Amino acid sequence: MEKKIELLQGKIAEAKLGGGQARIDAQHKKGKLTARERVHFLLDDGSFEEIGALVSHRSTDFGMADQIVLGDGVVTGYGTIGGRLVYVFAQDFTVFGGSLSETHAEKICKVMDLAVKNGAPVIGLNDSGGARIQEGVNSLGGYADIFYRNVLSSGVVPQISAIMGPCAGGAVYSPAMTDFIVMVDGTSYMFVTGPNVVKTVTNEEVTSEQLGGAGTHASKSGVTHLVAENDVDCIEKIKRLLSYVPQNCADKVPALPYTPGDEYREQLDSIVPENANHPYDIKEVIAGIVDENTFFEIHERYAENIVVGFARLAGRSIGIVANQPMSLAGVLDVNSSKKGARFVRFCDCFNIPILVLEDVPGFLPGTDQEWNAIITNGAKLLYAFSEATVPRVTVITRKAYGGAYDVMNSKHIGADMNFAWPNAEIAVMGAKGASEIIFKKEIESAADPAAKLAEKEREYAETFANPYRAAARGFIDEVIVPRETRRKLIKAFAMLEHKAVARPKRKHGNIPL
Ligand code: HXC
Repeated sequence: MEKKIELLQGKIAEAKLGGGQARIDAQHKKGKLTARERVHFLLDDGSFEEIGALVSHRSTDFGMADQIVLGDGVVTGYGTIGGRLVYVFAQDFTVFGGSLSETHAEKICKVMDLAVKNGAPVIGLNDSGGARIQEGVNSLGGYADIFYRNVLSSGVVPQISAIMGPCAGGAVYSPAMTDFIVMVDGTSYMFVTGPNVVKTVTNEEVTSEQLGGAGTHASKSGVTHLVAENDVDCIEKIKRLLSYVPQNCADKVPALPYTPGDEYREQLDSIVPENANHPYDIKEVIAGIVDENTFFEIHERYAENIVVGFARLAGRSIGIVANQPMSLAGVLDVNSSKKGARFVRFCDCFNIPILVLEDVPGFLPGTDQEWNAIITNGAKLLYAFSEATVPRVTVITRKAYGGAYDVMNSKHIGADMNFAWPNAEIAVMGAKGASEIIFKKEIESAADPAAKLAEKEREYAETFANPYRAAARGFIDEVIVPRETRRKLIKAFAMLEHKAVARPKRKHGNIPL
């Protein structure tokens, strides 16, 4: 027996060494951790149980029969984060550049299947040169097996992808189908075709970083939701993100102990400027409402005119969608609609109540927006809110104009509680634009058209630029003093905790993609 145990221990030690010390050193030199170090930092101490450490590839072409590395370039298994079960796979760049073979894919599929059966999140730490070139179609098939499972797991268990090295070709599509992507700044990139192919096909000169680095995907494409400074920061961000999210679609949101006592937040009374055309930072409003230091922003650098993220209210997770008057006056456009819609749908998948803070002057006009399908993209946000069955509460902090009033979680599309601050303006459009249209003739024929316009603007503003018309119709449930917002929201979400909605049976809806 002793000899057999020694043999086993030898194999495990061999597996742990991956592609060997020289490649491990090279990985460290690039400022990257190894797959095993990443798993170690991610999971609670001593909680990791490995699955498939002795798996080896079956390939024989190109001398591969002589190049067997136990584990085949991916560390897979399960463990806990903050005591909660998670499944994990971490690609090992020291083994054939972390490239994906048939067996490498099988290992990933195994933990994905276990995650769905047992209702726990899957975290993928990606660091791979893509399909293992020596394996041809076997490797492509392996990718497709993963993609298929990404889709079948979507909305069942949370899926989080960290991009901690290269991620090219088909390798980007698995992360793209997960719920969140975190990229490490400077050492990771994602693209379908790399700079060389780009040069050949389009004659563009571009670096990997410009084409698909973390900065590019955080601000230009919106492919990544979060950017980390380094591997350790990336792992910390994943842990924080998970702390807001339930284990699966049947689970309740995580709740931390909460001691009542700080419900009134007077600073909320003075954040919105007197002049309705002056900007203010909606994140100050968010900080004034939620439990201290609990706001965790998603997609921070993409479509900054809408702010989305998680927070805690009286200890319980909520998702926040808020117009940002500091950026483009908080207008809705193509990118902000997509960003908002994706976040709302994630919250709805996983029972996370949604709070909407609304200050929106309308949709952004222009050929750029129309030609880039603001109609279809704005409809995404409208659709996402309308189909969400989680508790949904809106606070109008200032403007709610035009179609954007309807879209931003209005009562009419199923919001449960709609509050407005006393300075709220709820109308088809701003007073100036409205007066110019409906009093056009009267203004033109006046002795002093400018004075007439100003008079009509005042009249329109007095009639509509307030929350009381909407409150009279019951479209607003209550007009509230800003400092009371936190208390009102805590009570509203507690009241809605057991909300249940029955919808007509159907296969699935057809969101305008
Ligand atoms: C097999 C690979 C590999 C791959 C890298 N390696 N990529 N082995 N298949 N795809 C190996 C290298 O041979 C090398 O082995 C080791 O990994 C490290 O690679 P280096 O090139 O030395 O590292 P680096 O300079 O850091 O460059 C990393 C890299 C580059 C940018 C990822 O290796 C690269 O461009 N690889 C090819 C990427 C690619 O085109 N993949 C296919 C995409 S298409 P040794 O033994 O020297 O350490 C695709 C289709 C999927 O994925 C479609 C699904 C729908």
